[in-house]
Amino acid sequence: MRTTVGIIGAGPAGLLLARLLHNAGIESVVLESRDRAYVEHRQRAGILEQGTVDVLRAAGAGERMDREGLRHDGIELRFQGRRHRVDFPGLTGGSSVMVYAQTEVCKDLIALQLKEGGPLLFEAEALEVEGVEGDRPRIRFTYEGREDVLECDYVVGCDGFWGVARNAVPADLSRVFERTYPFGWLGILADVPPSHDELVYARHDRGFALLSMRSPTVSRLYLQVPEGTDAEAWGDEEIWDELERRFETEDGWQLRRGPITAKSVTPMRSYVHEPMRHGRLFLAGDAAHIVPPTGAKGLNLAVGDVVTFARALVRLRDTGSAELLDTYSATCLRRVWQAERFSYDMTTMLHRAPEATPFEDRLQLARLERVVGSRAAETDLADGYTGFPLD
Ligand code: APR
Ligand code: PHB
Repeated sequence: MRTTVGIIGAGPAGLLLARLLHNAGIESVVLESRDRAYVEHRQRAGILEQGTVDVLRAAGAGERMDREGLRHDGIELRFQGRRHRVDFPGLTGGSSVMVYAQTEVCKDLIALQLKEGGPLLFEAEALEVEGVEGDRPRIRFTYEGREDVLECDYVVGCDGFWGVARNAVPADLSRVFERTYPFGWLGILADVPPSHDELVYARHDRGFALLSMRSPTVSRLYLQVPEGTDAEAWGDEEIWDELERRFETEDGWQLRRGPITAKSVTPMRSYVHEPMRHGRLFLAGDAAHIVPPTGAKGLNLAVGDVVTFARALVRLRDTGSAELLDTYSATCLRRVWQAERFSYDMTTMLHRAPEATPFEDRLQLARLERVVGSRAAETDLADGYTGFPLD
């Protein structure tokens, strides 16, 4: 098999890239190791920055998002029983975010690709990327019990943190920057209307909690738990009791309970692989970087990467200039590091580390007081949350 751009992975990065290339008249083939149902149903985050919303709309993939997504103009920060709303448009000059689950973004992009786009092969597992230093890189993969080769002009590794594309960058050229956190998130989905109309980020002495949502009738909630926690070790009532404690306010705010339909634990990690390009191999999304979910940046970063790649390839085709391809890694990494910084700041401001000293506890509260007491600090948070520019 032969194509222009071989894409490994049908997460948001690979799927959106295939769509952007299709719209630009550039051929691609997407190889995805899992089956369609798995990709469409794994639970991930659900906050789209304004820039991401604009990109999906412009790509012709925003129709259901515009119908079913919920526009949010702020979040609530909660600590020491107090509530503080951060007003995004007021602070940023008009920006907001959209609550629309990543699973739904993937469903929409898969449907479009299968209907209008190039090949998207499920249960096609890439084994290795070869020849990226020459002009004919190849992906060796298995499909329907056979081994096959996809010959490409370019390979884009959109295969997530556990993928194989990164292995094609020689070890002596790779640099990895990493931090793991001694806690994770226990996430639940519950059939109950959200207890608040915006997301609530709560810092509590017992640990962080987050109230989010998937729709007007489905809540998504998270609890900070120790690293390595087994989700099944938590009973449903125990989860609600703990959420109630962490969200408690002085003004008697009430948490609504309902049947829990899914339960899982997500580890927390910050990770960057540099460079994001080697020869004709480009890395995009989680294949190159991971952020802890506190800043809701993972999906948005993936979108930034593939927009940058698609633009660069179109520039080459239209003008013969490879300049944007050559600067791909540097361009993406500037934005990636801003999102890493923001996600780290949000995570360390809101979570209680198991070994936190009383001094660090006080500092954490001082950081929160600063955000709610200084328009400059609050604007900085609102800017980061609603998104860093793509250029
Ligand atoms: N061959 C083919 N496909 C593979 C391989 C392989 N060897 N290895 C991994 N994949 C697939 C995975 O099954 C997955 O569907 O690559 C896809 C990677 O998708 P994501 O992990 O969703 O990564 P990405 O598209 O970069 O999206 C980033 O996802 O993890 C969240 O928070 C993150 O929101 C962010 C977003
Ligand atoms: C989610 O809804 O899953 C979600 C929202 C905000 C975050 C992380 C996850 O910061």
